[in-house]
Amino acid sequence: MKKNIAVIRGDGIGPEIVGEAIAVLSAVADKYGHTFTYTEAPMGGNAIDAFGVPLPESSLEACLASDSVLLGAVGGPKWDSQPPANRPERGLLKLRSAMGLYSNVRPARVFRDLADACPLRADIAAKGIDFVVVRELIGGVYFGEHKTETVDGEQKATDIMAYSEHEVRRIARVAFDMALRRRKRVTSIDKANVLDTSRLWRRVVTEVAAEYPDVELRHMYVDNAAMQMVRDPSQFDVVVTENLFGDILSDEASQITGSIGMIPSSSMGEGTRGLYEPIHGSAPDIAGQDKANPIGTILAAAMMLRYSFDMAAEADDIERAVDETLSAGLRCGDIWQEGTILVGCREMGAEIRKRI
Ligand code: IPM
Ligand code: MG
Repeated sequence: MKKNIAVIRGDGIGPEIVGEAIAVLSAVADKYGHTFTYTEAPMGGNAIDAFGVPLPESSLEACLASDSVLLGAVGGPKWDSQPPANRPERGLLKLRSAMGLYSNVRPARVFRDLADACPLRADIAAKGIDFVVVRELIGGVYFGEHKTETVDGEQKATDIMAYSEHEVRRIARVAFDMALRRRKRVTSIDKANVLDTSRLWRRVVTEVAAEYPDVELRHMYVDNAAMQMVRDPSQFDVVVTENLFGDILSDEASQITGSIGMIPSSSMGEGTRGLYEPIHGSAPDIAGQDKANPIGTILAAAMMLRYSFDMAAEADDIERAVDETLSAGLRCGDIWQEGTILVGCREMGAEIRKRI
């Protein structure tokens, strides 16, 4: 098969981790007789420096013309003083919205060889942590009106949170479909005791649940969910929630696995084209030092093969190679422990490639 992949290397450690992921993809292409072509699409702080904007038109076009997009990470302190409309993050938000990527899937599971990295008490971790956060990605307060004005001699800021039924219905379906392939439990998270958007959310999710008699639905308030996630994460299978709650809870979920550098994510809309990225950030403090862990990005590339290109065997091959590399005791700095072998970003990539 021939596939055209748009590549957003991004800022900070982005170029290093994406470089290793592309090398892994190329090894897979060689082994299975595929042709992957890569189209560079600058985005983020580097694009602000080079083009004056975080997402140049040409990059957006390259992404829209691609079969899928692979992204490292964007942002960094260098661009913190940019006006809100021109920050690196705005490039990402514009890209998600322009590509119609309403469904963001972030798995939280503890890797077999990294169980010790889980920061929760051993008896809690022992019950098992393996759930998925399904986050609505192009609605809610992120995309409502934002304004700052002067009222009665002081500044007043407003951000509007809005949801329509169809936006809730389509993300709910993603969650229920996923639950059918897992342990058949959906937890929908909202703040229906306070917010109208949440009351609408809860009603629509309950309606969708009626189409899935085999899936058990539970509603939970977001404050309680934040607590339950550290008290007993084994109770979760598929978690579905709106954009802002999902942003916050998916960070919490990744942290309790103890290996945020290892977790990939997918963002998809109606078609097969997706955007795949690690869930960690651009880590400017270690950029350019060959210290970053490329595994999150490499596993994001595996997700791309599985979900956008229907290449399950190839995706399995990458995931197996990652597992074997970890079993061999190789670790980047973020997950290194006494008794394991410390390697840099490039060596980790090479070790995974040689097992493909
Ligand atoms: C994420 C990030 C982004 C978000 C930022 C960079 C805009 O935190 O993907 O979770 O808030 O969605
Ligand atoms: Mg976030």
